[in-house]
Amino acid sequence: MPLPTRRTLLASAAALSSQRIPGANDQPRLALIGCGGRGNYLAKQCAAHGRLVAICDVDAARLAKAASLAPGLFTHKDYRRILERNDVDIVINATPDHWHTLINLAAMKAGKDIYSEKPLTLTIEEGRRLTRTAQQTNRILQTGSQQRSDPRFQQAVELVRSKKIGELQSVVVGLPKASWGGPFPAQPVPPELDWDFYQGPAPRRDYTPERTHFRYRHWYDYCSGPLTDWGCHHNDIVLWALGMDRGGPVSVQGISHLDPVPHGYDVHSQFTVQYRFASGLPVTCITMYTDQFGTTPLVVPTNMINGIKFAGSEATIEVQRGKIECTRPELLDEVPPVDSVQAHIRNFFECVRSRNEPVCPPEIGHRTASFGHIGAICLRLGGRKLTWDPVKEQFPGDAEANRHVAREQRKPYSYDSL
Ligand SMILES: NC(=O)c1ccc[n+]([C@@H]2O[C@H](COP(=O)([O-])OP(=O)(O)OC[C@H]3O[C@@H](n4cnc5c(N)ncnc54)[C@H](O)[C@@H]3O)[C@@H](O)[C@H]2O)c1
Repeated sequence: MPLPTRRTLLASAAALSSQRIPGANDQPRLALIGCGGRGNYLAKQCAAHGRLVAICDVDAARLAKAASLAPGLFTHKDYRRILERNDVDIVINATPDHWHTLINLAAMKAGKDIYSEKPLTLTIEEGRRLTRTAQQTNRILQTGSQQRSDPRFQQAVELVRSKKIGELQSVVVGLPKASWGGPFPAQPVPPELDWDFYQGPAPRRDYTPERTHFRYRHWYDYCSGPLTDWGCHHNDIVLWALGMDRGGPVSVQGISHLDPVPHGYDVHSQFTVQYRFASGLPVTCITMYTDQFGTTPLVVPTNMINGIKFAGSEATIEVQRGKIECTRPELLDEVPPVDSVQAHIRNFFECVRSRNEPVCPPEIGHRTASFGHIGAICLRLGGRKLTWDPVKEQFPGDAEANRHVAREQRKPYSYDSL
């Protein structure tokens, strides 16, 4: 961690003085930004730890529906009106991925702590900036990668790290494929939606409902596809098991098994992407139930689970939500039934009080998202092999790939607005 400069120390002091740090018997006051499926669920899960006082959504219908979450909520479509409120201590950010960073940066600067959904970022550059700002402002941010708080995934990590399965030889990650389809004709914007605000820093496009609510996941304008959707959950565990959750791979190559439809969903929906670490270890991410495999140098078993296979020299572990198996079952301990989302949220609220680092802080959320972004960049460049420098966070000598490290932000929804 770099030594703090006078400027960063002053920023920390200012942020702390503008922020009430809740004591043991205090109920922190919460604001939900992004009232979709995940936001509503998180707000209910957080009710045991804090008091919801404000909600925000750029879709008035969703905002109105979420107003029933608690009595007397302050409601607004503009997150800046939420962040300027002194009665908000904590922000739950459950917006689509392309909005995460701007809102998280603004919330940190306003002195709020944050539970932010994964993938933490849309680009690698965003993650570097967010990590820096978190250090400067001394804010607590928990990334919503709740598998970190799941005993089964924790057990898999422990078995790999302790070498109880021998030397790790390969890792395969199975991911649900993305939707595929289109083209989608432009439609009139529904009156309840502020479409310009929804698009925010992303490029301006004609409205089609397929670009919004849940389905934004299938467009590169708003995300990096399966590699950062489910990918962020499983790859977070892989990087943790490898001791690489503040680092990354040194190369990536990939194959798309199904090309997107012109003017339709444009993320690569079915693919094989193989990363290599400095040790030579291969980590292969593959979409499950892939329709066309063909013969490729990267082909892996087609019966992949939505989860992770760690193959060691002495045993193999398969781990997914609710299930862990090992070819040497005696290595597995009994796992208590634990609600991993609740455990992850509890860890966040404990850290808000103690000011300790939560289990998935900004640097780790950023590195996991970057892992997915690197793979998506590779697919977008035709799958050619890319070399990655995890220290400089650049593709050495590769101007074409480096152009994807950051994205232009559409004004006025840019860093300048902070
Ligand atoms: N951790 C998990 O297991 C998990 C599960 C589901 C979703 N997620 C994540 O949660 C996030 C939301 O997913 P979802 O499925 O609920 O999406 P969604 O489309 O249902 O909801 C997103 C909401 O954010 C609103 N929104 C968009 N821009 C906004 C802005 N600038 N200010 C305020 N509101 C804005 C939208 O109108 C929408 O209501 C995503 O990042 C997703 O990856 C995580």
